[in-house]
Amino acid sequence: MYAEVDTPALLLDKPKLERNIARMAEFVAGGPAKLRPHAKTHKCVEIAKLQLGAGAVGITCAKVGEAEALAEGGIPDIVIANEIVGPLKIARLVALAQRCRVTIAVDDAGNVRQLSEAAVAAGVTLGCYVEVNVGMDRCGVEPGEAAVRLARLVDEVPGLSFDGLQAYEGHLQNVVPFAEREARAKLDMRKALFASQQIEAGGLMVGQISGCGTGTHTITGRLPWMTELQCGSYATMDAQYAAVGGANYENALTVLATVISRPAPDKAIVDAGLKAVTPEFGAPTVLVRGAKWLDFSEEHGEITLAGPAQELRVGDKIALVPRHGCTTVNLYDRYQVIEDGALVAEWKVAARGRCQ
Ligand SMILES: Cc1ncc(COP(=O)(O)O)c(C=O)c1O
Repeated sequence: MYAEVDTPALLLDKPKLERNIARMAEFVAGGPAKLRPHAKTHKCVEIAKLQLGAGAVGITCAKVGEAEALAEGGIPDIVIANEIVGPLKIARLVALAQRCRVTIAVDDAGNVRQLSEAAVAAGVTLGCYVEVNVGMDRCGVEPGEAAVRLARLVDEVPGLSFDGLQAYEGHLQNVVPFAEREARAKLDMRKALFASQQIEAGGLMVGQISGCGTGTHTITGRLPWMTELQCGSYATMDAQYAAVGGANYENALTVLATVISRPAPDKAIVDAGLKAVTPEFGAPTVLVRGAKWLDFSEEHGEITLAGPAQELRVGDKIALVPRHGCTTVNLYDRYQVIEDGALVAEWKVAARGRCQ
């Protein structure tokens, strides 16, 4: 399998990727909101361009560094769905805003004032979403008076434009059963609606309400007040989303590994360990019938073998589906892009390691 690809390698199945992108585009076309896919999953200019080509209005990023990498690749409109804090990052942010349209999340008045000063000095306008805590208890102000006050401040200070709300229900993406995810998502996202109504009652217009992920898109992506969907993982998928019901989307992402030892009939060791596939959320799925991932060490993976899997030999290549795609992709410089079993391209993981 893939004689020309050395291992460990990050494989991306292009037809599956394209089908996933088309499926999400079709879903979004059937509702009121627009798609602004999160690139923290793929970190790749080529994939972002395919998403824009399928109708996405822009791209979402988590970090200034990711946004810089995508802007360098020609992505013109980026939301950084995160608070950008400190003079070093703010300086990079306003420089970025001279090259492309940038919107960020805010949840602190002092930070808003610093952003405003830097934007004025650089002669740019930064779009701002006031982040509302919809139950994830990460960043964000509470809906109600705190959100109204912050939105008003953003609107008043020069250099910033109040463009709406960041409201991501990340705490619900993996909730099973689905009926519970659905009930909680509908309830929690009412906080975003409430915040928006309060802000609009004060005379400001809330342009966007932006949030939503792969796990909730069929729920919150159809709420009439959501305007922008930030789903990311759907494009490549991973074993975690497959486990909690991502049946609409195909797994396009695998790590290719080589069997380097067969110490016992029921055991194989591969050359992919913690530096090749992250343990976040659990073990990767081994795409060999009868094979199951047992343990990681730094450079090795231990796999138990039953039935037909015991035919594996030293030198065989096998595919693993990472449990979490986002953190696994971050371990690689490039995707080996495959189609019908052949290597057709290499795409750079341009935002790899751009966590600043
Ligand atoms: C702010 C934000 N929006 C959207 C997403 C959705 O990502 P996914 O579709 O991969 O769950 C994430 C994921 O962490 C996120 O942090």
